[in-house]
Amino acid sequence: MASKILIFGGTGTIGRYITSSILKAQPPFKQVFLFTSPNTASTKADLLSKWKSSGLSVIEGDITNPTDIQGAYASTGADTVVSAVGRGVIDTQIELLRLAEESGTVKWFLPSEYGTDIEHNAKSPNEKPHQLKLKVRKYVREHIKRVQVTYVVTGPYFDMWVNTAPGAEQAGGFDVDSKVAHVIDGGEGKVGFCTMWDVGKFVVATLRHPEQSYGKALKVQSFIVTPKQVVAEYEKQTGAKWTVESTPLDEVEKLEAKLWQEGKPYATGVTLRRIWAEGGTLYEKNDNEVVGVKEGDAESLETAVKRILSIGGWQNEKDF
Ligand SMILES: NC(=O)c1ccc[n+]([C@@H]2O[C@H](COP(=O)([O-])OP(=O)(O)OC[C@H]3O[C@@H](n4cnc5c(N)ncnc54)[C@H](OP(=O)(O)O)[C@@H]3O)[C@@H](O)[C@H]2O)c1
Repeated sequence: MASKILIFGGTGTIGRYITSSILKAQPPFKQVFLFTSPNTASTKADLLSKWKSSGLSVIEGDITNPTDIQGAYASTGADTVVSAVGRGVIDTQIELLRLAEESGTVKWFLPSEYGTDIEHNAKSPNEKPHQLKLKVRKYVREHIKRVQVTYVVTGPYFDMWVNTAPGAEQAGGFDVDSKVAHVIDGGEGKVGFCTMWDVGKFVVATLRHPEQSYGKALKVQSFIVTPKQVVAEYEKQTGAKWTVESTPLDEVEKLEAKLWQEGKPYATGVTLRRIWAEGGTLYEKNDNEVVGVKEGDAESLETAVKRILSIGGWQNEKDF
């Protein structure tokens, strides 16, 4: 059973939902530690202070310094590591895993995934955004023998998916002010989503089900809907008719190629949206029940849209 949990990247975009959910979990975990950079410790001091009063212990250090990592494993005696580090530093986890294997105390490691299924089909090994996560999985397969590893695969965060990216609107998103919805290929294809709060819920559920989770890439989802159903929900909740602008998949692919060629940061987002539109989140059955999350436990489309409309998007979330 996860008892002493050490979190990396726990104040990040998704990490804060995960840390908050772990701290609020009932019954509580025995001890929760957060490893963070001195920069984050000062820039996010208010959030950390709130969490400290809920029992969090904070360790400051450099994630790329092996001595700091060894010190964190030794001083906390953590049995479980939850990593939510950002895309740019996914491969630093290879060293975190190596030192965890060496530690003698860490027994379970959840690497930073919380996204697209990177081993979904024959195209997956060549998808550019998957490369660092695939490298981590390869390292785990080849070198990690003692520590158990679980990947929590959530698909797209619905709360983010509804946003358009400036200059890449055709790849999808909902503009509440102008009541325009951008969808791919008519918006008829189903997509499996996770809300950002449910990512935290699923991580806690995973931590409560070690034996069912060891060695697995768990596919967990809040709800599975078509973009057209999302449009209908927005129309219902805003009381207005929306304009739907659809872009064929091959045009999204052209945009994707152009953005990669130009070295645009949003190329990753467009590739992922193309993968999701192609059915990259669909399974015969997901793993919600494997970690004890039953029908009705996860958030619904209705709840998700209601929250997004009331707080004006996930960036304004304050409830950590
Ligand atoms: N499914 C989706 O739609 C979706 C969307 C976004 C992200 N994700 C996934 O969620 C995971 C976390 O991503 P995120 O966007 O939440 O991460 P993030 O906010 O960019 O970063 C999380 C933490 O990682 C550490 N970090 C980031 N960049 C660093 C750097 N250059 N050097 C050292 N430390 C660094 C920082 O921790 P400290 O300062 O505390 O040390 C930071 O708070 C990733 O695996 C990502 O692919 C999925």
